[in-house]
Amino acid sequence: MTGAVAAGTGLPPGRLITVEGIDGAGKSTQLGALAEALRGLGRELLVTREPGGTPLAEALRDLFLTRAMDALTEALLVFAARRDHLVQVIEPALRRGALVLCDRFTDATFAYQGGGRGFDPAVLAQLEAWVQHDGHALRQPDLTLWFDIDPALAAQRRANARAADRLEGEAGGFFHRVATAYAARAAADPQRFVRIDAGQPRDAVWAQIQAALLRQPWWTAPAAGRMAGDG
Ligand SMILES: Nc1ncnc2c1ncn2[C@@H]1O[C@H](COP(=O)(O)OP(=O)(O)O)[C@@H](O)[C@H]1O
Ligand SMILES: [Mg+2]
Repeated sequence: MTGAVAAGTGLPPGRLITVEGIDGAGKSTQLGALAEALRGLGRELLVTREPGGTPLAEALRDLFLTRAMDALTEALLVFAARRDHLVQVIEPALRRGALVLCDRFTDATFAYQGGGRGFDPAVLAQLEAWVQHDGHALRQPDLTLWFDIDPALAAQRRANARAADRLEGEAGGFFHRVATAYAARAAADPQRFVRIDAGQPRDAVWAQIQAALLRQPWWTAPAAGRMAGDG
């Protein structure tokens, strides 16, 4: 598929890049530099997050993060937000040939609602199939940077950093289950997932991210005319 042209656009096909890992792994910390590096490719870049990314999905995110609800309600809410995000924002951007950088996506649903809450992953897979199928194929990220970290270290970072939201306030066992589910997702799709050792200092984490980008088949140097300082 590399080098193919998005149907009917004459543009290189878009790429969906997701960032995953438990709360406190350091995803947000690296997002700016990652966006900057992607912008350097000279293609349209959309930076977004889940749950969220549209007015409706952001409203659902607020409910999701602040209200108590049972596991199926939580799963339905997350996939409702994802559907709106995909239809309104992500799929149109990918059709334009954009790079889409998303802070969390469906792997987080399998990790948090599946692993963390113990909700049936078969039901999540069914919801995924309904929500992410565009009539031709199941939309999946092209690259997932998985921030793998010891849950105890992530908890320490969170404690230093901020007041907990509803999910972050969960007991330690919850994050162990989420981390285990992420590891299982990564093991099941080693082509898509790149494991980042997120327990390392910021610079070392960034170096791993850069190395992962350089290995991507769609990673190409910016056109000469777009290079910094050119012209
Ligand atoms: N590599 C790192 N080493 C030490 N602390 C870090 C590192 N990366 C992030 N942090 C700190 O940990 C906290 C959580 O980071 P954040 O990026 O918000 O995580 P996430 O978005 O994955 O929940 C922040 O206070 C951040 O400054
Ligand atoms: Mg974050």
